Amino acid sequence: MNSKEKLISLNHQYLWHPFTQMQDWINEEPLFIEKGEGNYLIDTDGKRYIDGVSSLWTNIHGHNRKEINEAVQEQLNLIGHTTMLGLANIPATLLGEKLIEVAPGELKKVFYSDSGSTAAEIALKMAYQYWQQKNKPEPSKTAFIKLKEGYHGDTVGSVSLGGIDLFHKIFSHLLFDTYSIPTPFFYHSEFSSEEKCKDHSIQSLKAILERHHHEIAGLFIEPYVQGAAGMIVFPKGYMKEVASLCRDYNILFIVDEVATGFGRTGKLFACEEDQLEPDIMAVAKGISGGYLPLAATLTTDEIYNAFLGDHSEHKTFYHGHSYTGNPLACSAALASLNLFKKDRTLDHLQEKIPFLRTSLEVFQDLDHVGDIRQKGMMVGIELMSDKGSKTPYPPEHRVGHKVCMEARNHHVIIRPLGDVLILMPPLSVTVEEIQALTKGIYQSILTVTQRSK
Ligand SMILES: Cc1ncc(COP(=O)(O)O)c(C=O)c1O
Repeated sequence: MNSKEKLISLNHQYLWHPFTQMQDWINEEPLFIEKGEGNYLIDTDGKRYIDGVSSLWTNIHGHNRKEINEAVQEQLNLIGHTTMLGLANIPATLLGEKLIEVAPGELKKVFYSDSGSTAAEIALKMAYQYWQQKNKPEPSKTAFIKLKEGYHGDTVGSVSLGGIDLFHKIFSHLLFDTYSIPTPFFYHSEFSSEEKCKDHSIQSLKAILERHHHEIAGLFIEPYVQGAAGMIVFPKGYMKEVASLCRDYNILFIVDEVATGFGRTGKLFACEEDQLEPDIMAVAKGISGGYLPLAATLTTDEIYNAFLGDHSEHKTFYHGHSYTGNPLACSAALASLNLFKKDRTLDHLQEKIPFLRTSLEVFQDLDHVGDIRQKGMMVGIELMSDKGSKTPYPPEHRVGHKVCMEARNHHVIIRPLGDVLILMPPLSVTVEEIQALTKGIYQSILTVTQRSK
């Protein structure tokens, strides 16, 4: 039997946690989550918390779902893992068909990996290699366009395509050059309307495309909402214009639906909002229902066909990971897609999303809440030292972190991005749980911001 004291001591002695200042961590008592049940996480003392960020934006139908458990167990009785390099497996094959059935536009092929970062990295390499060896190769098309506040993961390629200085600046010498366009982020912009803010970004994109389109392979974008930047929701019409400019200038339109995919925005994929047709789409996180590491990069026949040829032509896509297409993870993903149908997950969201919006209205009255951003079930609540002048708190005060710690006293687990509180509960969250979640966070903001006055 492991006592809690022993676990804490082992954790502090041996582990290095991601995105964590370990000097702080080793001076705090870590919260050990031992179990999950529906939309709740349960710690080693049996205390229950609403999983307000879906275990880092992964969980979809709740924890410990019988249907997903059974699917994984059934597969486990057959085989836990077998490679896709030179062999095929059943769950990955069946999932391929299902993903293409539901994918937006003309996406026809599935390339598996195991995290959002690898899915983005694969999209990048696929796009690059495509132009080198398509029917009429365009070897000069080697550059990429990105959005300034974008995030596509932590591997070096995906970091090159991102723009969050706090995470990425220190690695600048490792990164390749990109063209960047401003994120249309109205709240912190100097523009008098969303439309003008949007036009500024679009004009910048046009200027780059006019001058450099012949050297650009593709544009990377988180469609409709930038998650890690703090839930920045794009102005209406923006995505459509970006997509059509990519077409006009013959560059690949590459969407990263790692955060937005699998229902988070209210549609299965965010791209469905304007019937966008990406050339490449990266998905991860929610794909396995939040159970096991799985990711996929989907693409068109046009791109896939450019990799076909005699062995001597060296057109093969030389990329793959040990756990690519893992059968357990693919079984979980198949069960998760079935649950979307069985639970009518997307239908129910059409009531939950406005309910969440209404529940957030009272936050506007709080002295230290600035912008509140929502896209579907993705929410960012920006804390401000002075909301009139939009003055942020000094980052070293860690107000966002303190609110999240306080929320635990209200049986809520959330995690901030700086001083933006993120809410992204499992899609199976009930309206009662939304009420409890928002009430707990409201109280926590009040407590912490009054204390730090
Ligand atoms: C849009 C987007 N792309 C990629 C990633 C990276 O995913 P992972 O953490 O699974 O590598 C994330 C993670 O938050 C993300 O939000």
